[in-house]
Amino acid sequence: MAIARGGLHRGWLMNIGIPTEIKPDERRVAITPAGARELTRRGHRVLVQRGAGTGSGYPDSAYRAVDAECTTVDEVFERAELVLKVKEPLREEVERLSEQHTLFTYLHLAADPRLALALAETGARCIAYETVEDAKGRLVLLAPMSEIAGRLAAQAGATAMTGPGGGRGLLIGGVPGVPPAEVLVLGGGVAGTAAATVAAGMGARVTIVDRSIPRLIELAERFAGRVRTVYSGELAIEELLPTADLVIGAVLVPGARAPRLVRREHLGAMRPGSVLVDISIDQGGCFETSRPTTHSEPTYEVDGVVHYCVTNMPGAVAATSTRALTNATLDYALRLADLGPEAALDDDPRFARGLNVADGRIVHDTVAAAVESALTPA
Ligand SMILES: NC(=O)c1ccc[n+]([C@@H]2O[C@H](COP(=O)([O-])OP(=O)(O)OC[C@H]3O[C@@H](n4cnc5c(N)ncnc54)[C@H](O)[C@@H]3O)[C@@H](O)[C@H]2O)c1
Repeated sequence: MAIARGGLHRGWLMNIGIPTEIKPDERRVAITPAGARELTRRGHRVLVQRGAGTGSGYPDSAYRAVDAECTTVDEVFERAELVLKVKEPLREEVERLSEQHTLFTYLHLAADPRLALALAETGARCIAYETVEDAKGRLVLLAPMSEIAGRLAAQAGATAMTGPGGGRGLLIGGVPGVPPAEVLVLGGGVAGTAAATVAAGMGARVTIVDRSIPRLIELAERFAGRVRTVYSGELAIEELLPTADLVIGAVLVPGARAPRLVRREHLGAMRPGSVLVDISIDQGGCFETSRPTTHSEPTYEVDGVVHYCVTNMPGAVAATSTRALTNATLDYALRLADLGPEAALDDDPRFARGLNVADGRIVHDTVAAAVESALTPA
């Protein structure tokens, strides 16, 4: 039996809800059975929506085996104090949220000001994975999914460059006597580095552009000449685009809308059948011509250039992603449950950087500025 906060005995300490993800083609779930076990063994009640783990390879029986309760979506939201999710809530999920809830999930509110305002109206406390920092200021809960999205970006780009993929029929690594594809990666952070590693591993010639000199130095050391590094700027990007077969956009200004580094007029300088993969689409996209797509219909064409803009890339490899996500988020979920959200956030200012919405307001400075500027008429 569990001992509640303050020494009072009330059976279960906190009710934690795990709804099924309803974003199109999303197969991840917020916690593995192993993670759920950590919560239940500490006396918390875990309410998993029936079937929530199926897409990641976890049947309801795996959750029941660790003392979680499998139930309906209504029960999950009605009884939960802490709701753990993967992707931003869709409208029908927002409608279920209220002051009783602390929501812990990816939110990307700079890309969706209307969602930010709708969440504020619910009165729920909303903590975004993507703005939680560790002691060194790294985005520790974004990183595992960026690793995965970066690796997938190289694979998706390689497929899109083939004829059936809509591209001009290029093999990314070339063959002896025929040169490989030129891959340009914008943003050499976690996702960009992962994309560059896989693209270079497949034999492509890779250039990474970043605006951080220390980061460029790290990249130059890490790749030891196998990848070119270039300081970011409009002119540098304009010079690189005409020879790029595949451009992977992976820039991030934490909390803010992604900077638009490639504008529509730039597409004319690219070869027909070239490919743009916009990993930063979840923060609004770093190509002017990007619009969100799904795994079912991942690509479209603008001015002869193939665009891939899937907002939940790791959802395609849920068996890997769900485990990687739980590995990163579990410690934070345990703190929210054990201490209660207020104390857990008060206790750790880096964790508190994740707080985006509270008391009916957008409380994260950069997110608030992005939402305000998006809603201010030009
Ligand atoms: N589509 C998806 O499914 C998916 C999944 C995971 C992550 N993401 C997104 O991928 C993006 C990158 O995430 P990350 O974790 O790699 O971020 P990160 O912070 O590790 O790296 C971002 C890099 O962009 C650089 N940068 C910022 N502005 C720049 C500019 N103007 N020119 C050149 N470089 C610039 C920064 O210096 C940094 O090195 C984020 O938007 C993240 O949300 C998308």
